[in-house]
Amino acid sequence: MRAESLVSTDAQQQILAGRTLLLIVGGGVAAYKSLDLVRRLRERGARVRTVLTAAAARFVTPLSFASLSGERVFDDLFSLTDEQEMGHIRLSREADLVVVAPATAHLLARMASGQADDLATTLLLATDKRVLVAPAMNVRMWLHPATRRNIAQLRDDGVLFVGPEEGEMACGEFGPGRMSEPLAIVAAIAAALPGAGRQSLAGRHVVVTSGPTREPIDPARYLSNRSSGKQGHAIAAAAARAGARVTLVSGPVEIDDPPGVETRHVETALQMLAAVEAALPADLFIGAAAVADWRAEPAPDKIKKRPGGAPPSLVLSENPDILARVARRESARPTLVVGFAAETRDMIANAEEKLARKGCDLIVANDVSAAAGVFGGDANEVHLVGPDGVESWPRLDKSDVAARLVARLAERLSQAECAR
Ligand code: CTP
Repeated sequence: MRAESLVSTDAQQQILAGRTLLLIVGGGVAAYKSLDLVRRLRERGARVRTVLTAAAARFVTPLSFASLSGERVFDDLFSLTDEQEMGHIRLSREADLVVVAPATAHLLARMASGQADDLATTLLLATDKRVLVAPAMNVRMWLHPATRRNIAQLRDDGVLFVGPEEGEMACGEFGPGRMSEPLAIVAAIAAALPGAGRQSLAGRHVVVTSGPTREPIDPARYLSNRSSGKQGHAIAAAAARAGARVTLVSGPVEIDDPPGVETRHVETALQMLAAVEAALPADLFIGAAAVADWRAEPAPDKIKKRPGGAPPSLVLSENPDILARVARRESARPTLVVGFAAETRDMIANAEEKLARKGCDLIVANDVSAAAGVFGGDANEVHLVGPDGVESWPRLDKSDVAARLVARLAERLSQAECAR
């Protein structure tokens, strides 16, 4: 699922039209892509006010941004005219969303430490709006422990990220660090804007698990399953569009991180459990991952075939049940805990049994037999199994299942809180 496809172009148009975006351009080669970003945003009816850092103005000219955005461009905190005509507080308060693209390692470091030594960082410190950043830097800078620390800090502060992508970089190296393409940033902006869709989850924190887990047997082999992560990722994206702060804990999948969502990548069930526990507290937990039930004690070296010898036997131990652990927490239990039941037979009976055994509030049951074609496919046919009965939905696109589920859970969340 490409990031762009998570919010259709029509929906983007609806969300972006009439919105004011404050675009902060950092000083990196990728700054030229932000010119195209402005064009794409304007095409969708958004108003874009641009602030260039001093370094950005060496890569792209304020005039280019002024011509494309049809707005004057701001680049100096201490310009008296700016302060009289448009104080920096007003500049950030009047925006619906602040977007930093490209966000260089230096700019991220200044944001993480709360500096306010130029107009860009002053605005970022003064804003009461959501901030979405599109990092762009050399792969070694991206992977440096200092940048990792700054990013962890910014994520904790609620800053949203889109990208970076992996690929060939301007400096000739290969790896993560390339700024996301303008259309992917547009999709992330549409997902992050307050009022994108009904803001039924505004102010909520939602934790979603998605994808398979991978349990190593030796350095070359692992146990896993066929989960694609499409349904879980679509739910995370839908929750973000409904205004939630979303933490997605994802096993290894082939699809992109959803825009506007904090994604934590893990491999094993134990890592997934640790990432989920670190992400709590939350209002809503949705366990959509196909967590491997068992893990092996991985051999330190690759297990070799012995000609004529018996095949090795695997000694497996049971993985913790993440869903049950979250549902049975004594402290910081999310108000709603939702699990999935992937079944090939006796779907409803099995789902009811799981609901009771795991102590969750709702089970989304689906038929994953080969005939249903759910694994890896784009459609899903689900049944919501709760203590008060079963509701069956027709076969829908996974993104429609996600949107409906999020709407339903938002209602239940409000009801559960009213009943307290
Ligand atoms: N789950 C989990 N941690 C596990 C196993 C499952 O969090 N170790 C969650 C899944 O994310 C899903 C739900 O539990 O939301 C159902 O998973 P499933 O594998 O179908 O249930 P099991 O209890 O493992 O039952 P079985 O494999 O026998 O069907």
